Amino acid sequence: MMEASADHAVCARGPMHTDDARRGWETGKVRLVSLDFDRHFENCLRWINDPDVTHWLIVGDYPPISRLAEKDWFESASKDRDRDVLFAIETLDGVHIGNTGVHAVNHVHRNAMTGSMIGEKSYWGQGYGKAAAIARSLYCYKVMNLERLFSSALEGNVRSFRMLTGVGYTECGRMPKRFFKRGRYWDEILLCQERDAFLDRFGDHPFPS
Ligand SMILES: CC(C)(COP(=O)(O)OP(=O)(O)OC[C@H]1O[C@@H](n2cnc3c(N)ncnc32)[C@H](O)[C@@H]1OP(=O)(O)O)[C@@H](O)C(=O)NCCC(=O)NCCS
Repeated sequence: MMEASADHAVCARGPMHTDDARRGWETGKVRLVSLDFDRHFENCLRWINDPDVTHWLIVGDYPPISRLAEKDWFESASKDRDRDVLFAIETLDGVHIGNTGVHAVNHVHRNAMTGSMIGEKSYWGQGYGKAAAIARSLYCYKVMNLERLFSSALEGNVRSFRMLTGVGYTECGRMPKRFFKRGRYWDEILLCQERDAFLDRFGDHPFPS
């Protein structure tokens, strides 16, 4: 298993262009850009097979994700664009550090499920997850005109829970012993973020207008 490192992350850099800022959605610390096979695929394949990264994820661990399976995911991910909106998370100097998504988008009820993965482990715990979640919510409310976002985390995933509550998600439910992971069952904690409450707190963050 290849160890993620800052050195490897350098390989994740695609060609930098002076107009990079205009190809994505920035909050000041990260840029959300559309997933690109050449630029992002190898990192996605490496991360989804890294047991440290998948420790608290429902995907990964089992079954292992082959190159072919990951290619399928990459292809299918871009097919239902009304229901699934996926982004690569890049630093402002173009390092691909993770992915984030808006899933099961419902334009009648104006809600969706969100999820994130910072796969480049050397970037954990430095505020990149929160910055990406803020950018994602701004996109959901200001671009997609959604009203409410849901997310969930396994009860042991303290970093994810703190990231989500730190950007205005609040716990709204719990499904007991919902997932078996690494030797035991874990509750799934459900969280919800409301548009108005979020925009009151974070609406002034830098975001393309
Ligand atoms: C969960 C994840 C997206 C969070 O992103 P991140 O960039 O590491 O998190 P942030 O730096 O934005 O910080 C999130 C919060 O966790 C806290 N935190 C950081 N490291 C922590 C640790 N080891 N244990 C507990 N809390 C921790 C931070 O202090 C911060 O909380 P605070 O603002 O109240 O201080 C990222 O770590 C990740 O992708 N992990 C692997 C995959 C995963 O678990 N995804 C989520 C699935 S629900």
